[in-house]
Amino acid sequence: LSREVFPKGFVFGVATSAYQVEGMAHKDGRGPSIWDVFIKKPGIVANNGTGDVSVDQYHRYKEDIDLMAKLNFDAYRFSISWSRIFPNGTGKVNWKGVAYYNRLIDYMLEKGITPYANLYHYDLPLALELKYNGLLSRNVVKDFADYADFCFKTFGDRVKNWMTFNEPRVVAALGYDNGFFAPGRCSKEYGNCTAGNSGTEPYIVAHNLILSHASAVQRYREKYQEKQKGRIGILLDFVWYEPLTRSKADNYAAQRARDFHIGWFIHPIVYGEYPRTLQNIVGNRLPKFTKEEVKIVKGSIDFVGINQYTTYYMYDPHQSKPKVPGYQMDWNAGFAYAKNGVPIGPRAYSYWLYNVPWGLYKSLIYIKEHYGNPTVILSENGMDDPGNVTFAKGLHDTTRINYYKGYLTQLKKAIDDGANVVGYHAWSLLDNFEWRLGYTSRFGIVYVDFKTLKRTPKMSAYWFKQLLTKKK
Ligand code: GCO
Repeated sequence: LSREVFPKGFVFGVATSAYQVEGMAHKDGRGPSIWDVFIKKPGIVANNGTGDVSVDQYHRYKEDIDLMAKLNFDAYRFSISWSRIFPNGTGKVNWKGVAYYNRLIDYMLEKGITPYANLYHYDLPLALELKYNGLLSRNVVKDFADYADFCFKTFGDRVKNWMTFNEPRVVAALGYDNGFFAPGRCSKEYGNCTAGNSGTEPYIVAHNLILSHASAVQRYREKYQEKQKGRIGILLDFVWYEPLTRSKADNYAAQRARDFHIGWFIHPIVYGEYPRTLQNIVGNRLPKFTKEEVKIVKGSIDFVGINQYTTYYMYDPHQSKPKVPGYQMDWNAGFAYAKNGVPIGPRAYSYWLYNVPWGLYKSLIYIKEHYGNPTVILSENGMDDPGNVTFAKGLHDTTRINYYKGYLTQLKKAIDDGANVVGYHAWSLLDNFEWRLGYTSRFGIVYVDFKTLKRTPKMSAYWFKQLLTKKK
């Protein structure tokens, strides 16, 4: 494997997100986001971790960008914190926040690192949650488009790669179906949340996210794209769902899983409507796009980012529908992590993450065949070690090298078989704040001592450096 086996112009980068790396959560004028309050609830984050300081990229961005350059990466996918720009979600601008992203972007360009800016990575301004229930309200569509517009206007002379949302499925499902992520809503019948309706809220939120995305893209295309010559897309998480057996029922279960997972978003964006499976199963709980909305939703991507880490087997549980409807319940499909006693792949530290490279190949071919072979960036991929791994073992991350080798080999194979993949972003440059796992999980190719915040490249970082060396 080497850079040369990938198509000409293929871009290699690393990815992070604002709340996970910046720190300075309550400083320099940043307003709170829904995660700042969610993490305060007891029992939410492992060891009570917070993003208050995180790995302090706010002050250490030069060191981090120097590292990327030294490791031969071409690009950095970061996210802009909405509430650092608009502390109240709308209205008054926090110019200190603007200045920070200007410094970050300018330094990337100085070091030859191409900025890939994502506008939303789970961190809705708290003010909008309090004002109108955040993503549950149609009001968010205009507010998001205004925020996006401001970013295009302010940073678009230098940022040519934009992404509207990271993993809207996770936002809707974890935020409103099982309550695992902020704002932590779910039906009390099958969660321990105090508020929410899993049967309707995830679908309403997803709908508002799709419309917010489409409105932002519309603004970009109408006001900025021609002049700034950039491109815009969305970031979707995908898991490959392989039928456990060859039975028709298991095949259909896997298909339901794919439709409810990626189809929920990519189908409207490519075809202007939700997948048939969702329409049939969710029925009148599923919002509909008006004719006007279809016009802005359909075709609203120049590229799609795919965040892919893992693969599961799916089977038909042969059970009738549960009484309480909910997003995950609607799938009515069973997950399996082994077949005939053989695990699907080696597990990482995170319980949900199995190393299954062939699943990436299948995902990319599936997207090519079902969604008109869009331009794809593999925008996240990686694995974690436990937070308390010793420094020596943490640096000696041969398991991670194997993971990356496997996935990049399958990525290359999918490209050879016609998938239009133009870039790859490893998750992540640094060990950082891993949401509910806090600092008990390490996804970085660079080790971070969470006390001193000292960065030390792991073996996998040097592996990338080698892979990405440009032959003269
Ligand atoms: C995402 C992810 C990241 C995680 C990574 C490892 O939504 O893009 O949640 O923020 O840190 O996927 O779990």
